Amino acid sequence: MSRGSLSVVSDAVVARAPSKVNLHLGVGPRRDDGYHDLVTVFQALSLHDDVRISPSSALSVTVRGESAASVPADESNLAVRAVFALGAWADRAAKVSIDIDKAIPVAGGMAGGSADAAAALVALATLWQLDIDRDELSRIAAELGSDIPFSLHGGTALGTGRGEQLIPVLARGEYHWVLAIAREGLSTPAVYGELDRLRDNRSGSELDESELLARPDALMQALASGDPEAVAPLLHNDLQPAALSLQPTLRRTLRAGIDAGALNGIVSGSGPTCAFLCADETEAVNVAAELSGAGVTRSVRTASGPVPGTRIIDPT
Ligand code: C5P
Repeated sequence: MSRGSLSVVSDAVVARAPSKVNLHLGVGPRRDDGYHDLVTVFQALSLHDDVRISPSSALSVTVRGESAASVPADESNLAVRAVFALGAWADRAAKVSIDIDKAIPVAGGMAGGSADAAAALVALATLWQLDIDRDELSRIAAELGSDIPFSLHGGTALGTGRGEQLIPVLARGEYHWVLAIAREGLSTPAVYGELDRLRDNRSGSELDESELLARPDALMQALASGDPEAVAPLLHNDLQPAALSLQPTLRRTLRAGIDAGALNGIVSGSGPTCAFLCADETEAVNVAAELSGAGVTRSVRTASGPVPGTRIIDPT
């Protein structure tokens, strides 16, 4: 007996999922299971992917959009894995077409694959009219990838565990970002592995886990104040030295964004996308124009945050 209602919505359903930037990313030592405990503050950004799911006689997947290149259209695609996972939960055959409109850079440190999985889960749950609550969807999401629960959640949130345990953070105001998208992606496991290597090579004191995984209270207070000038100096990413070690040209990108007038810049998550926080929307447009001219990146985008988590949008 399958779960949920027996009727189906016969038309296509489209879900939109945000990208993310980590305003703070504290990484603990490597665990026995290969993962790392994190303390992170995520913010969902207006650069998003849309996933359309429609009934079909067989499973199929297409990918289009400005970041479509190098997205696998097979079972390694996270949206496809999400459809199989929800099909298993609902005990239904995954006979749907999955059409991904991709704007979030691939292997960019902005949770692009996670966004596609989150959008596929929400769109399919809606198409099948499943009786599944947000917590259950989040549990399935966490099994598929550490960042997927946040793609569902959106807003600004404190993440712990692998990043999948979330508490909302009060963030007043709107934050304006410029995103410098690199020519080559970075593999997330490779960046974590490089961090472990750099830490192993470091002579001197042991890693202090309580320090690495301290809650970023000053940042959270600054977010509550709604002042980007207070938030900017508190941006922090433990993975940044590892990303810079694997892609040294990112130093030039970070410098170019600061020189162009950003309040601060960081590598987003495992990189290589660099995210620059700007004083306001006008400044972001100016920084984006100057950074584009500097020729240090594949492309430059502006985005704002926080935005809501994955949601159904009008399919037209
Ligand atoms: O969970 P997800 O599949 O997104 O993680 C991809 C890879 O990133 C993991 O296989 C692991 O190498 C690394 N990772 C980690 N610690 C985390 C999250 C991810 O080491 N908290």
